[in-house]
Amino acid sequence: MSHAEDQADSHEGTRRDFIYYATAGAGAVVTGAAVWPLVNQMNPSADVLALASIRVDISVIDPGTQITVLWQGKPVFIRNRTEEEIAEARAVDVSTLPDQDAGNANIGPAPATDENRSLDEAGQWLVQMGVCTHLGCVPLGDQGNFGGWFCPCHGSHYDTAGRIRQGPAPANLPIPVASFVDESTLQLG
Ligand code: FES
Repeated sequence: MSHAEDQADSHEGTRRDFIYYATAGAGAVVTGAAVWPLVNQMNPSADVLALASIRVDISVIDPGTQITVLWQGKPVFIRNRTEEEIAEARAVDVSTLPDQDAGNANIGPAPATDENRSLDEAGQWLVQMGVCTHLGCVPLGDQGNFGGWFCPCHGSHYDTAGRIRQGPAPANLPIPVASFVDESTLQLG
């Protein structure tokens, strides 16, 4: 049996086990011991836990572009912002924003200034979860009425700092724990 076949087989085995345990759970006749395998199946697997933090090469991201990486099962936008994007974001009066908290896990509660959202002092790097704070769609970059991101699901517009400006989303795009390892490497988590 080839390695691929072997993998496919064991994957199928896992699926079958899962269906079996799920069925047992749904039957409501299970004891605590029988429930355990189901709960265990639901826990993040070792390979997912191993990705609690990841490193990303950001040297490949040109100014005015972004990449999306998958981290802990969710998209993260890493954007190399232009001078114009930074200036636009920094000119905004925070008191006019729908969500006035920076939403930055690296600093805790703080005013939603661009300085409090960008990862470096100059404001070149913006790192944020690519998950709309309305109902979780993935917003599109370089779109919308504020030159940032647009969520087509129900029409939420985010600015060049990822702050919600218009539409049903209640909050700014969250900024995850992130730091520079060196000039060209970013660590998430
Ligand atoms: S999920 Fe983005 S606007 Fe509704």
